[in-house]
Amino acid sequence: MGGHGHQLSEEEAAAMFEAPSWEERYSGDEKIWSGSPNAQLVAEVHRLTPGTALDVGCGEGGDVIWLARQGWWVTGADFSANGLARAARHAEEAGVADRTDWWQVDARAFAADGRSYDLVTTHFLHPPDGGMVEVTRRLATAVAPGGHLLVVGHAPSETFTQLTATHRRAMFLAEDLLPGLPDGFDALVIEQRPRTTTRDGVTVHIHDSTLLARRTT
Ligand SMILES: C[S@@+](CC[C@H](N)C(=O)[O-])C[C@H]1O[C@@H](n2cnc3c(N)ncnc32)[C@H](O)[C@@H]1O
Repeated sequence: MGGHGHQLSEEEAAAMFEAPSWEERYSGDEKIWSGSPNAQLVAEVHRLTPGTALDVGCGEGGDVIWLARQGWWVTGADFSANGLARAARHAEEAGVADRTDWWQVDARAFAADGRSYDLVTTHFLHPPDGGMVEVTRRLATAVAPGGHLLVVGHAPSETFTQLTATHRRAMFLAEDLLPGLPDGFDALVIEQRPRTTTRDGVTVHIHDSTLLARRTT
């Protein structure tokens, strides 16, 4: 989110959240994300015993590849076919293709359809207009008993004041997601975790909204 040459209209901003915009971003050759795993994934998953995992909004596959290297069997899901093709190529290059598979799905319409995973994770997928509550509810249905749900996104912050109202409404706090957590889950982490990153060559201090929950029944 961010780094645009001109101030976007709300209409242009809204289009950025939809699949055609992501397809276009992933259509070229230029790598968009770092390929490194996300900080909160690494912080939380090292405690867990590897099993099956689903990463929704997996983009170029950095988290999928890291999980596979830790011994997980991982499904990477995204609504962008170009993103998934990139992720599959990166998994092949990383030598973990045999531990991965891919699922093209819009998280806002996600249905587990009988599939379940020991870990369901999503990082920086920001549906517009507070849509992450419903996405959390849907993703929770794919967590196996005893399994974990890890949802991470950008907390609203002064750092993002240059963004449109549409962008800011897509951000969330971890506690905002609690209404989406079904009965039978224990919330283990509900935090905004500080993180330093570089954006357009500038060091910025941001917070990762982090919800980790375990399915108990
Ligand atoms: C900001 S990127 C994050 C990629 C990766 N999780 C990471 O942290 O590096 C957001 C990703 O979510 C995907 N995405 C956005 N909205 C989505 C939706 N409604 N359903 C499925 N994927 C979505 C985009 O295609 C993109 O790959």
